[in-house]
Parts: sequence; C-alpha cells; structure tokens
Amino acid sequence: LTRWPGVIEAYRERMPVEPGWTVVTLGEGGTPLLPAPHLSAATGCEVLLKVDGANPTGSFKDRGMTMAVTHALAEGKQGVLCASTGNTSASAAAYATRAGMTCAVLVPRGKIALGKLAQAVAHGARILQIDGNFDDCLELARKTTADYPVAALVNSVNPTRIAGQASAAYEICDELGRAPDVHCLPVGNAGNITAYWQGYKAYLADGLIHTPPRMFGFQAAGAAPLVHGAPVAAPETIATAIRIGAPASWAGAMTARDESDGRFAAVTDDEILSAYRLLSAREGVFVEPASAASVAGLLQSASDGTLPRGSLVVCTVTGHGLKDPDSALLTAPEPTVVPIDPGAVAAALELR
Ligand code: F0G
Repeated sequence: LTRWPGVIEAYRERMPVEPGWTVVTLGEGGTPLLPAPHLSAATGCEVLLKVDGANPTGSFKDRGMTMAVTHALAEGKQGVLCASTGNTSASAAAYATRAGMTCAVLVPRGKIALGKLAQAVAHGARILQIDGNFDDCLELARKTTADYPVAALVNSVNPTRIAGQASAAYEICDELGRAPDVHCLPVGNAGNITAYWQGYKAYLADGLIHTPPRMFGFQAAGAAPLVHGAPVAAPETIATAIRIGAPASWAGAMTARDESDGRFAAVTDDEILSAYRLLSAREGVFVEPASAASVAGLLQSASDGTLPRGSLVVCTVTGHGLKDPDSALLTAPEPTVVPIDPGAVAAALELR
C-alpha cells in the first residue's frame, strides 16, 4: 500500500502548478466510490455514491482548496478570503492554517450549520457574519479582494479551485475504467458541476473515456435559479449549503447541461429530507442535507422516467452528516434513560 498523496500530486500533470511551488495538502481526494444497493434496487439502475464527505474537512471543497491555497502561497499572498455557506469557510480555514496564512470568512448570519462554524473557529479563522445571504457575501468578498489584493479570493470563481475539484471526475473514471452514464450533483453556486464537466471533457479529449456522462444538477426548490432561468432574490431551503440565488458559475452550469444532454431540476425540502434519511438509515452513509439533494433528484428522475433504467449512475454526496447535527436531530425522539441494570436494558430493548 502506498500513501494517497492528495489531488495535486495524484494528478499533477492536469493541475495548474509549477515546479518548485510548495504544495499545501491535507491528503484530500481518493474518496470512496461506494455501491448503493438500496438506491440501485429503488431505481433499477446501478448507483454508486462518490462519498466526498470523506475528505479531510468533510466536504468536496478540499479538492479545490488545496489548489487555491497552494496558488495563493506561491503568489506571496498574506491571507485568503472567502464567502461561504459553511463548507468553503471550513476548508479555507484548514488549508490556510496549514500554509501558515491567515484566513477570513464572510458568512450569512444564522444560516450556516453548527459543525462548519465550529471548524472555522477551531482553525482560527476570522469570522465575519453578514446580515444577508450567500450572494451578498460573495459580492462583498469579490469587492474586498479587488480593493485589497493582499488577500486571495478562494471561492470557486477562482479558476484554480475548479481545476482542483475536477479531480473527482478523474478518480471516478480511473476507478470505473469508463465514465458513468449519468452523474447527479447538488447545485448551489455551480462551481462543482462546472468542475466535474471540465474533468470529464479533459478525459474525453485525451481518449481516456469514450462517452462522457449526462450531467443532472439538482437545486432546492426554494433556491432553484438554474431551473427557473433567473436569479432568486430570497433563496430559502433547509439545505443551507445550497441556499444560493445567483450562482457565480451560471455559464459553466449551462455549458455542462447543454454539452452533456443533461438537465436541471428542483427537489423540495421534503424530498431532500427523505433522501437524507434513506442514505443514513438504509445505506449507512451520513451526509448533510444539501448532499442528499443529488439522491432526491436521482429518485425523482427514476420515477418520472427521465433516468433510463439500467444506467450506471454516480451521485456525489458532497458533505459529511456531522457538519449539521441539528438537522439529524430535528425529528429524532429523546434517547431512553435506563438504570445501570441489564434487566432494564433488556426491557427497554424488548429482548426476550
Ligand atoms: N453540497 C455542499 C455540501 C456544499 O457545501 C455546496 C456548496 C454544494 C453542494 C454546492 O456546490 O456551490 O459548487 O454548486 N457550498 C458552498 C460553500 C457554496 O460556501 O461552502 P456548488
């Protein structure tokens, strides 16, 4: 067994790095591509989960952050700045710390999950809360880094982030020896779908795959600008990670859809929550609500006939369930209290 070196070293020839740069890595990438028997049975497809919550900070953002922070360090930046619904801030905070750089994050007040905030705090980031949504935060971050270039903007509008995140498509093709027929993703700011499509196209151009997947992107119904074809002024969803009304990578998302014969569709919060529970209770995979949007979309597409039976499907589950413990406990009953007595344990469990 050899050690997984992180996505920059694993795919160095495809990454925008120059010889001599110090690579800032926490060993991201190389995540499981896990068969999902219950989802496969439910859809009549072969469904695999790309479990990107298994990355070092618990989300796919690490794939891009290793590139963005490596680049910022090479450019001599003092620090990094990002807008975030939570995961980007957690990732930026960790990689900046690793690089010995400072990190500041702009987040929508009261709308980021507890685990993500805890990560940014633990890694020593400066946390600035905004009375506004993610879109307001991103605009502010763009203006600030334009006026004060000592800090690098590490949102996915930074092309190095996209190059890093494309690594997930390479891993999937390398493992399968082909591309899936369909790839399902949750979509918020649309950087990830842009990155996957760039990755698949790069492999296609190099003859490493012959047919790229159709890209299916799913947005929360209350935050579905790409489905409606217009920005949403006041996005709302339980899936706070994708509570975004004006995706920065709008053009990239459209290209992915159009070139791949794909589609965008909306999933309701109820559909998201039921997919969320199915993943944890049936497949043993605990994800955060936004990640379950890809699976909610998979189930919806299977039942409305837009997903051909027999397809090989990859669903990326983008973030770990521990990110958002509040959502997990939302409808959970209180744990039973028992005395220190085996009989009481047996009685509580109805053992006989
Ligand atoms: N899933 C999770 C868990 C996310 O955190 C995000 C985005 C997405 C899906 C959507 O990806 O934006 O590339 O379309 N989170 C960003 C953040 C916005 O700030 O952490 P996208």
